[in-house]
Parts: sequence; C-alpha cells; structure tokens
Amino acid sequence: MELSPKQQNTLALLKDKKPIRVLFICLGNICRSPAAEGVLSDIVENQGCADNWIIDSAGTGRWHIGQLPDNRMRVHARRRGIELTHRCRQVSAADFDDFDIIIPMDSQNESDLRRLAPSVEAEDKIIPMAALVDKAMRYDYIPDPYYEGAEGFELVLDLLESGCQNLARLFS
Ligand code: 4NP
Repeated sequence: MELSPKQQNTLALLKDKKPIRVLFICLGNICRSPAAEGVLSDIVENQGCADNWIIDSAGTGRWHIGQLPDNRMRVHARRRGIELTHRCRQVSAADFDDFDIIIPMDSQNESDLRRLAPSVEAEDKIIPMAALVDKAMRYDYIPDPYYEGAEGFELVLDLLESGCQNLARLFS
C-alpha cells in the first residue's frame, strides 16, 4: 500500500464508523468496479462482518446502465467463488454524500470523479484502488480488461483481491 498522508487521514477518521460505505468506480461499471464490489463483499462475508459495510459500484460512463457485469468478468469471478449480480449505474454528485470512501480504478476515473465532486471535503473521499494494492504487485492503476484476453481479467481480480484484503484489514 502507498497511501498519502491525506488518504491515511481519511481512513483514520473512519476507524470506528459503522457501517463504512464504500463505492468502487470504473468507466463502464461492467468489469473492474462490479468485480471490486464482489471481491470486498466476499472478503467481509467470510470474516463475518458484512453488517459493518455498505458496498456498491458505479461507472463514469452511461453506455451499460441496467446491465449485469460483462460475461467474461462474471466467469472469471465465479471461478474464485464470487457471483457478480450488480446492475450497472452511473455515478452522480449525490454519491459523495452517500459514501465515505470512493475508489477509482485508474487516473481517468479519478479525474472524472474530481470534476464531479461537490466540494474539497468530498474530494478527500477519493482513494485510488492502486494505493491499496500491495506495492510488490507493481501496478499504479487497475488496467481496463475490456479489450484484453483472459489474463487481463485474472490480473484485475488479483489486484482487486490484494487491495480489498488490505482495505478490509484496515477496519478489522
Ligand atoms: P470497466 O471496463 O470500466 O472496467 O467496466 C469497460 C467496460 C466497457 C467499456 C469500457 C471499459 N466500454 O467502452 O463500453
């Protein structure tokens, strides 16, 4: 993990908050962010602390609203025991009121979110996924798998498992 002092402060202020409300963001909301939602939900369910979390995802784009996640993402997640049933929705400014931590997958998602944020305080809720991933994995963003093969989807899941494990550990 490589969290800035400001990001560490955001997380420290949430230490005793229950439930912690987490929103994952990507471009389409059919691959990376619904997978992140599924991975974190699976981790906290296995830890028996699902009641302490509200977990959702949304996209900056609007092409796939109402759709289930991409079939390839669903297949790769299912192989790890995770069912993805989220329905695509677009992120809105109101999400900055409804969530405590907002987690973009790459720098384009992050700059789109910063433009949408209604205040400077709201912007402080943004913590890039890559900042939560183990440094040894050597990725500073979660690569879009949409035009990739099977390895792209597996890489996304590996990165998300690392980041979500670390996020859950911060609050356990
Ligand atoms: P995601 O992947 O942002 O991880 O959901 C994408 C899905 C769809 C598109 C782009 C990225 N698209 O252009 O339709």
